[in-house]
Amino acid sequence: MTKNQTVEETLDPASWDDAQALSHRMIDDAIGHLREVRERPIWRSMPAEVRATFATPVPRTPAPLSEVYREVAETLMPYPMGNIHPRFWAWYMGSSNFTGALADFLAAIQGSNLGGGDHAAALIDAQVVSWCKEMVGFPAAASGTLVSGGSVANLLALNVARNVKAGIDVREHGVAAIESPLRFYASDQAHSCHRKAMEALGLGNKALRLIPSGADFRIDLAALRAAIAEDRAHGLAPACIIASAGTVNTGAIDDLPTLARIAAEEGLWFHVDGCIGALIAIAPENRWRVAGIEQADSVALDPHKWLHAPFEVGCVVIRDAAAHRGTFAVHPEYLAAKPRGLAAGEWLYDYGLQTSRGFRALKVWMALKEHGLEKFGRLIDQNIAQGQYLTSLVEAEPLLELRAPTNINIVCFRYRPAGLDEDALKALNIEIILRLQEEGTAVISDTTVHDRHCLRIAINNHRTKRTDLDLLVREILRLGGEIAAVR
Ligand SMILES: Cc1ncc(COP(=O)(O)O)c(C=O)c1O
Repeated sequence: MTKNQTVEETLDPASWDDAQALSHRMIDDAIGHLREVRERPIWRSMPAEVRATFATPVPRTPAPLSEVYREVAETLMPYPMGNIHPRFWAWYMGSSNFTGALADFLAAIQGSNLGGGDHAAALIDAQVVSWCKEMVGFPAAASGTLVSGGSVANLLALNVARNVKAGIDVREHGVAAIESPLRFYASDQAHSCHRKAMEALGLGNKALRLIPSGADFRIDLAALRAAIAEDRAHGLAPACIIASAGTVNTGAIDDLPTLARIAAEEGLWFHVDGCIGALIAIAPENRWRVAGIEQADSVALDPHKWLHAPFEVGCVVIRDAAAHRGTFAVHPEYLAAKPRGLAAGEWLYDYGLQTSRGFRALKVWMALKEHGLEKFGRLIDQNIAQGQYLTSLVEAEPLLELRAPTNINIVCFRYRPAGLDEDALKALNIEIILRLQEEGTAVISDTTVHDRHCLRIAINNHRTKRTDLDLLVREILRLGGEIAAVR
């Protein structure tokens, strides 16, 4: 073969017509999948032969795309986690949306790398960050970045806080050069990602001082003040208050205005973990609950939760844009900006740890344009009202016991027949969770709040109807009765 006859390969389809026909089928199937989501079991256990298909070695030879898709349709689509189902209320998820899914497809087709540059996707990325700032009442001069989710959003904010409050150039000299050990404060209800952040930032878990929460699961302000004073007296350097706007256990929202004041008085960074609740700021009936969030130095929020963007997309916003850039910006020559052309645009990688970044903004942008922010706000109000509705069902039923005050959309309760001790009640309630899952009726989770084990229902779902909650209560009572009868 001569040089000119070299066969050059590509990943493009051999036939665009065939690819088009198959793609149309995928879209039709995808719409069917969503249209019928309510009728399918939420979750089901995978047969061994399906499981085995995910343990085969890397394929070395080709297969027609139609064959690959058949495998996806048979082994992937019937066995989802289930969080797009109207009766999924476990942990804290979002329920995704079709427009967001189309956007993820188009983002991949357009293919841009959001590390930066002068192109439309970068402007959309920056616009979504600006919209997030607007949603939580931050000024236009603040900065922000889209990341994989709330954990990384919190990590970036705490990274900036650490560098600003360290008293030395941490980027240059490292945490070992910090004179007095830094202290960060959060309630004992704070999400575990803050512990991970402390560890990753080289400060260690002990640098995160957990302050007791009160009966309302909000941080005890007097205990916080006392802890700050005590730490100062011991030569430690109080650096940052991490407020929870929506705790993961019960949805409690710390007293943000007072925490902002304490942070200002004490010269501390004020960070709000708003992964659950920051977006309540757009909900007309409930936005009062997060008043004060606009005073924070930084806020972590999660569009893949209450904006229902398909996973993943989180966002951090930071009031002091210079501090934000100063924490992450580096300019190696191979990424140097140019006066004109593609490299003349802003380098978005200056605002975080990633260099290459996905086009996760489009799914937020398209869904917001389609539905408008007001509808997302109403959906948040709807979930909070559903939380109250479920609470009223629990309170009306003698065999159910509310275990924590319902603040927003998280309801903690348990099935409690007479005559069982705490261990037996816990075992019974866990069995209820498992049967609900195995029967495909509902997916819920559990937790322990102030030493009390309970079922936990987090209604962060735009497909949930009140009749779903009626069904949940009916099924818990039925299963609870059946399980208790044979124990
Ligand atoms: C209060 C809170 N913070 C942080 C996170 C972590 O967010 P992500 O799962 O998006 O990383 C969560 C997750 O549910 C959360 O509830």
